[in-house]
Amino acid sequence: MAKKYYISTAIAYTSGKPHIGNTYEIVLADAIARYKRSKGYDVYFQTGTDEHGEKIELKAKEAGITPQEFVDNIAKEIKNIWDLMNTSYDKFVRTTDENHTKIVQKIFDKMYEKGDIYLGKYEDWYCVPCESFFTDTQLVDGKCPDCGRDVEKKCEEAYFFKLSKYQDRLIKYIEENPDFIKPEARKNEMLNNFLKPGLQDLCVTRSSFKWGIPLSFNDNHVIYVWLDALTNYITNIGYDPDKEDEKFKYLWPADLHLVGKDIIRFHTIYWPCFLMSLDLPLPKQVFGHPWLIVNGGKMSKSKGNVIYADDLVNKYGVDAVRYFLLHEIPYASDGLMTIDLLEERINSDLVNILGNLVNRTITMVNKYFNGTIKKATNVESVDKNLIDKINKLDENIEKHMNNLEVGKAIDEIFDVLRLSNKYIDETMPWSLAKDESKLSRLNDVLYNLLEAIRICGLYLEPYIPITTTKILNQLNTKELTKNFGAVDNYQVKKAEILFNRIEKC
Ligand code: MSP
Repeated sequence: MAKKYYISTAIAYTSGKPHIGNTYEIVLADAIARYKRSKGYDVYFQTGTDEHGEKIELKAKEAGITPQEFVDNIAKEIKNIWDLMNTSYDKFVRTTDENHTKIVQKIFDKMYEKGDIYLGKYEDWYCVPCESFFTDTQLVDGKCPDCGRDVEKKCEEAYFFKLSKYQDRLIKYIEENPDFIKPEARKNEMLNNFLKPGLQDLCVTRSSFKWGIPLSFNDNHVIYVWLDALTNYITNIGYDPDKEDEKFKYLWPADLHLVGKDIIRFHTIYWPCFLMSLDLPLPKQVFGHPWLIVNGGKMSKSKGNVIYADDLVNKYGVDAVRYFLLHEIPYASDGLMTIDLLEERINSDLVNILGNLVNRTITMVNKYFNGTIKKATNVESVDKNLIDKINKLDENIEKHMNNLEVGKAIDEIFDVLRLSNKYIDETMPWSLAKDESKLSRLNDVLYNLLEAIRICGLYLEPYIPITTTKILNQLNTKELTKNFGAVDNYQVKKAEILFNRIEKC
């Protein structure tokens, strides 16, 4: 039976349209999910939206609509962008779904009954007109950061979760499971900056606003958004504190929670403690990916530097944008995205290396053999060099993908594409074509190139899936095995441009 692989992204806030940074995460998760599928795993890929909280309540008020209407609109927009990016998620979850809401209440009750949640007092700075609490650091010159008015110390009843109870167990777990938090630097940050200095109990209810999941036993309080949001990973796969569920037993624990570096703390401290309280196993891995930054640093509406995926896709096509995101954002440090860099990558990699190889080869096959090529019969040393490289691709890609170094996996494929271009220069098909006695060699050279293109095309599927389909279509083959020589005869179609060169003015 296929091994299961459960991968999730963070669920995006429905406070506004997602920018290219949020979009990067779903594309990265999609590449990993597609790769695992290609390796025969039974993949379950979950994503969705995080829809509660005071910010959304306020935004809906400003827009003159109900919070539910507000989140319905944004959730739709987010889903459209995820679909536009051709991401193959299995489930798009929403924290306003009825089932999620019901199970979150039950989870809270279970933690409460167990004694892990207790009623206490929450004290902080309160702005009366805004009905909001702020911490010392959130205040601006001692005033409310939203309206600039005076704030007062206020104390209200709230429920707290005993994070401290699970601290030692969590430290031990992290130390004994070196792959739990990745990259390594994030793990050290969590241990040294948060866990070892000691955890304070966490306030898990709010009563200063309404847009949240109410407690089952006291609807003056709504459940803290992070407790609500984090549990999406289990509520949507059948978890119910009151009964066993086959799907849940099969899928949990998740194999990978893919999240941005800013929220790794919630996923590697709060979330594991909540799971321990529920007596559930912890996810196998949490990967805190770096951020995508733009000219001017962090994207913000006020700086006017926000990039949206749909604008890019409309101009450059979805695979070009996917390629850039997956290839350019490093594994552990932030990656810069600019239009210039994107256009350079399209020209240098997708047009010059991939597009040219496919176009030149298919054009030659049509020109010299009317599109028909037979399986090669002789192997010369230049062929062997290419074939050996192709045969090593699987192992090389796997090594990088297992470390989530997606950019390096793509590089392996492009190395073979580069080598294939070099192979054309070395074997010089145009000169073989001039000599009747070399037609058999010409056939073999073109066969080797078609196989190189087919196999690289198949390996590219997790990253640029539409291009894979286009390549297979031009090659006119349905052969999906990645073994060199699996195709007996080719009867290719006409050459078509895969990527348009971006002309700079
Ligand atoms: N709702 C929370 C997550 C709850 S998960 C139980 C949240 N939402 S978010 O919309 O702000 O962010 C969604 C994801 O996008 C997060 O993983 C976040 O780190 C990521 N990114 C936000 N800006 C980003 C970039 N500029 N670059 C890359 N990822 C970015 O956090």
